[in-house]
Amino acid sequence: MPPANTVFPAKTVDPCDFVVFGGTGDLAVRKLLPALYLRDRDGQLPPETRVIGASRAGLDTEGYRDKVRGELARFVPNDQLDAQTCDRFLRRLEYVSVDLADPDTWTGLTECLAGREELIRVFYLACAPGLFGPICENLQLHGLASARSRAVLEKPIGHDLASARAVNDAVGAVFDESQIFRIDHYLGKESVQNLLVTRFANTFLEPLWNSTSVDHVQINVAESLGVGSRGGYYESAGALRDMLQNHLLQLLCLVAMEPPTYVDRETVRDEKLKVLQALKPMSPDDVERCTVAGQYGPGLAEGVAVPGYRDEVENPHSRTETFIAVKAEIQNWRWAGVPFYLRTGKRMDRRCSEIVVQFKPVPHPMFPGSEGHSEPNRLVIQLQPHEGMRLHMTAKEPGPGGIRLRPVSLDLNYIETFKRPSPDAYERLLMDVVRGNPTLFMRRDEVEAAWEWVEQILVGWNRSERLPRRYPAGTNGPTDATTLIERDGRIWHEGVPA
Ligand code: BG6
Repeated sequence: MPPANTVFPAKTVDPCDFVVFGGTGDLAVRKLLPALYLRDRDGQLPPETRVIGASRAGLDTEGYRDKVRGELARFVPNDQLDAQTCDRFLRRLEYVSVDLADPDTWTGLTECLAGREELIRVFYLACAPGLFGPICENLQLHGLASARSRAVLEKPIGHDLASARAVNDAVGAVFDESQIFRIDHYLGKESVQNLLVTRFANTFLEPLWNSTSVDHVQINVAESLGVGSRGGYYESAGALRDMLQNHLLQLLCLVAMEPPTYVDRETVRDEKLKVLQALKPMSPDDVERCTVAGQYGPGLAEGVAVPGYRDEVENPHSRTETFIAVKAEIQNWRWAGVPFYLRTGKRMDRRCSEIVVQFKPVPHPMFPGSEGHSEPNRLVIQLQPHEGMRLHMTAKEPGPGGIRLRPVSLDLNYIETFKRPSPDAYERLLMDVVRGNPTLFMRRDEVEAAWEWVEQILVGWNRSERLPRRYPAGTNGPTDATTLIERDGRIWHEGVPA
């Protein structure tokens, strides 16, 4: 058996033309190009592969290469930036100027792709969702979408169920569902994939993974940053659409789904869909009782005074929520009666994302007269900033005389165990797109089922006209969120800060 720190060589993927619509935008320069560079560095990109940036920035290829050189220096860790790979990667880059919605400006892209029809084409739509339909129409109009093409859609897919359906229809009119990759970068995180492996490549958890043994589950995704420069987008999204509809519900699916017969492109997605369909519907009364929206005001971030959300987005009347807590239930045999508490927010007191599976307390105290105390077992799957897993249990503190109970934990720290940092989620997902493997991407029916449930919350909020509760930046969200869980005799698990 190879030791845990063995590095398996990355497998080269087929050659492709990787077109990034929005090639000069924030997502492209912060995430996509660094991820492709790092895969190139690992030898995964064959010599023929090209990366084509398409945008309205009006650059030429040389200008684009210069820009990307600067951006790689900002967004790739120093120890992974070497001149030789950098030069090789930059030589793969082409730039075409195009107004994505205007068919008369597509000649540059058509010429750039000409003569390479036999290659895989990836069209990455790293742009506003309103452009997804027009881009796909133009790809069809100019004969660029082939049977070997794939379209990658960034979230948000729509802003409600009807608009999500419209986007899916527009993209589906050009691409077959098997060619559409709806990305949720949380599914590319190593610790999230490890959740599947932990559940299904081990036997000890499965008998306990149900309402008989589990008291409740928490999914906490706390961010310490505010909205920064993304205020324009965020104002129309809010935490419910930006995080809960996709990332948090996807995590909930992976925790709650039934074991598929084997893991492949459709089986996992079939099981996730069943979870979404089993979410207990939310009436307006349920929304009132089981959800809390919050918005950060001015406060302190790491000891420094920061403005509130309304100042950041320059809208003194903004009602957009930057925080949401929800108590959800899954109506099926395995999970009936087990609450799933979901919570996410910006400008919280720490950056920490964790899934907490809290088991029931022991049925009978077996150590009368003992000192110390026993706490219910808790499995904490740490997604970030530290990737790992922690099983909280009770042990006897060593020493003569009576028995002293002490909560202790069994820890799996990814970096210590595997002796290397985990790749960024996009690295894995982009290579899966080229390979044509959609297992870790959201299928149309999943996205729409998630919207169907989330829309009930939107409707409830609109009906009640309740404003988001204010919380000072740098805290754990509004007190109503604390009440939401404490009412049930439970508390939020606050993870270990970065
Ligand atoms: C994005 C959201 O999808 O996820 C952002 O649009 C959020 O608002 C980000 O900050 C969080 O991702 P991560 O990987 O940093 O947890």
